Amino acid sequence: MANNSSFKSPKRLDSLPGDVAGYSSGAVPGGKTRDVSLEGVDFDRRDFLGKAVGGIGAFVAVGALYPVVKYIIPPAEKEVKEQDEIVVGKASEVPPDSGKIYQFNKDKVIVVNNGGKLSAVSAVCTHLGCLVQWKADENVIYCACHSARYEDNGQIISGPQPLPLAQYNVRVDGDDLVISKA
Ligand code: FES
Repeated sequence: MANNSSFKSPKRLDSLPGDVAGYSSGAVPGGKTRDVSLEGVDFDRRDFLGKAVGGIGAFVAVGALYPVVKYIIPPAEKEVKEQDEIVVGKASEVPPDSGKIYQFNKDKVIVVNNGGKLSAVSAVCTHLGCLVQWKADENVIYCACHSARYEDNGQIISGPQPLPLAQYNVRVDGDDLVISKA
């Protein structure tokens, strides 16, 4: 049902103050016409304030949306150039009859010191990807997950692994331990 609460019925017009005819001809209370009553209002200023409020609103909206967009769109992966040779540590870190795993580019490499002879092979077992270790009491590279055994040069001795361990080069340069691609 339509809302007639603002309808100027003759009965309501009677209750309004002043010249009733003026209400329907653009006049405003106080006896002034609508144009006269707007004199002095600075429309340029109102326009500026409206734009300023809109600008602040847009700024706040961008600030709120930025983290959401950053979360949804993953950052571009930085291209890390692979190095052919890396100083991974000190030679003293791998004394005789020990092994130590180092990061070489994206790979994990185990450096083995088998009685003074250095070798380096992938530290990732070719069976299901567990990390291997040097087992000094057996002189083998050993995977504890399913008992794979490799020689210090990565060749298979026994176990479920389908492939030998990938080989790398290793050398001592001064005090440094240097791994390079084979
Ligand atoms: S993951 Fe190494 S033996 Fe299974």
